[in-house]
Amino acid sequence: MSVESQLRSITVRTSGVLESLKTLFRLPNDDPRKTLAVALALCLVCSVVVSATAVSLRPLQARNAALALETEVIKVAGLDSAGLSSEEAFARIEKRLVDLDSGRFVDDVDPLTYSYRDAAKNPATSTALDSAAIDRRPDRMPVYLVRQDGQLERIILPVYGAGLWSRMHGLLALAPDGRTAKALTFYEQRETAGLGSDVAGARWLSKWPGKELIDADGEPVILVVKGSVDARAPSAKHRVDGLSGATLTGNGVTNLMRFWLGERGYGPFLAWLTDADRG
Ligand SMILES: Cc1cc2nc3c(=O)[nH]c(=O)nc-3n(C[C@H](O)[C@H](O)[C@H](O)COP(=O)(O)O)c2cc1C
Repeated sequence: MSVESQLRSITVRTSGVLESLKTLFRLPNDDPRKTLAVALALCLVCSVVVSATAVSLRPLQARNAALALETEVIKVAGLDSAGLSSEEAFARIEKRLVDLDSGRFVDDVDPLTYSYRDAAKNPATSTALDSAAIDRRPDRMPVYLVRQDGQLERIILPVYGAGLWSRMHGLLALAPDGRTAKALTFYEQRETAGLGSDVAGARWLSKWPGKELIDADGEPVILVVKGSVDARAPSAKHRVDGLSGATLTGNGVTNLMRFWLGERGYGPFLAWLTDADRG
């Protein structure tokens, strides 16, 4: 069939559709066929408007998410009270990408545009695991280093894993020894308000600084207990008080910390970095 005749038949069909629509809309208002037609037309217009808005807002949402993450990084870096603008503070933080298996830096991708969430979804850039914390691990993760006069001051590691109801995303800041917590934040989680969501509460997070998450042999030993830690116990430095009524979320934190600080997580990187920095 020639292009002209194809175009002609499309035009004929379209004008036919338009004709029947006109007929439909000329029907009396109480005619159910017209009501249905109006409702369908409205749905169509609304869905086009909503998807166009969603698509057009996506870059803005991505930018806002990146800014929100920057704010959290600045917070656990301890630079939020340094009297700097967030741009100045974030500029002071070294952003790097780490290959988790080798534990070394990789520089072929910009750590600021790299998304570990997208990487975790892609079998080519992630590894399937049967860990209690996560099912797929991205092979590379961004890390943030805070240096003071050239000296390593904090190692900031993104961590995430399963809570009771949601995947919890956070940032853990370690001291230069690569074992002691300096700060922790969970900036994304959907645990129950007043129960598991206390995981993001300032009161519970303030219990982490000074805790030794990894023992002298490099083994992750941190544990969020059920109830309160006995401060006199030798193990107290490796224990954090539980979330009352939310032990399951607390278990989720224990699992994700032990995963990310272990052999399949940042273990090799921390061993190398702290050794190199000590060198
Ligand atoms: C509606 C509802 C929401 C809950 N949300 C959470 C939660 O977000 N995190 C959590 O660990 N437990 C949550 N729980 C409680 C758990 O089911 C479980 O009882 C609790 O984690 C056990 O901890 P506990 O022994 O300290 O009470 C919830 C329970 C109910 C009924």
